[in-house]
Amino acid sequence: MLRHVLALAAAAAALAVPQPTWPVAFEAWYVSDYKRTSGLYATDSRAGVAASRITFADGTRDHLCSAFHNNTRCEQLMTVGGFRYLYFPQVKDCCKCCTYATGTYECGGPVGPRWVSNATGNLHYLGREEVLGRTCHKWSVAGLVPAFPNYYLEDTQTGRPCAIDGYNYLRRPQPRERMISISFRWKA
Ligand SMILES: *[C@@H]1O[C@H](CO)[C@@H](O)[C@H](O)[C@H]1NC(C)=O
Ligand SMILES: *[C@@H]1O[C@H](CO)[C@@H](O)[C@H](O)[C@H]1NC(C)=O
Repeated sequence: MLRHVLALAAAAAALAVPQPTWPVAFEAWYVSDYKRTSGLYATDSRAGVAASRITFADGTRDHLCSAFHNNTRCEQLMTVGGFRYLYFPQVKDCCKCCTYATGTYECGGPVGPRWVSNATGNLHYLGREEVLGRTCHKWSVAGLVPAFPNYYLEDTQTGRPCAIDGYNYLRRPQPRERMISISFRWKA
């Protein structure tokens, strides 16, 4: 009997931990402290669409953008055929950068809900944190480098993404460099 009560209490405690929901498709403005820029973040991970657009007012502090041009606007488009395209509207340069469709995983594709689905037991609730004046739930999401997890923050009121922060690098992998640091501002 006691064992059953304890099991139920454990199940209830597990249920009580807030669970994240990354929208299948959304569009928001963002600011990035680490990349020292701002722009638009749009993703639609529905099967058959699988597209995303991320703009950088200045791509100098982005790994992919800065490999081609510094001190200028940069757009990254993830679209048909599993390719990420780079577009530099001011210097009128573009094009196909890298692929996320093949096994080599040269670059990431559109981000869908699976990354916060706890599919591998890699998600841990860390409590609340303020982001741009909103109270947000925070989780760690162990990814490619488990020692340096990514973090996801979601508005406790609206359930919309507040921020993502995670392991990344500007030139070549460096263990302690964190530079995604995107805080979302919703258009409406
Ligand atoms: C952009 O600046 C970085 C850092 O100074 C440099 O390593 C990189 O080669 C530059 N990119 C281009 C296309 O010149
Ligand atoms: C994710 O799964 C692990 C292993 O089952 C569990 O310990 C953890 O509490 C889960 N995370 C959340 C946020 O529920």
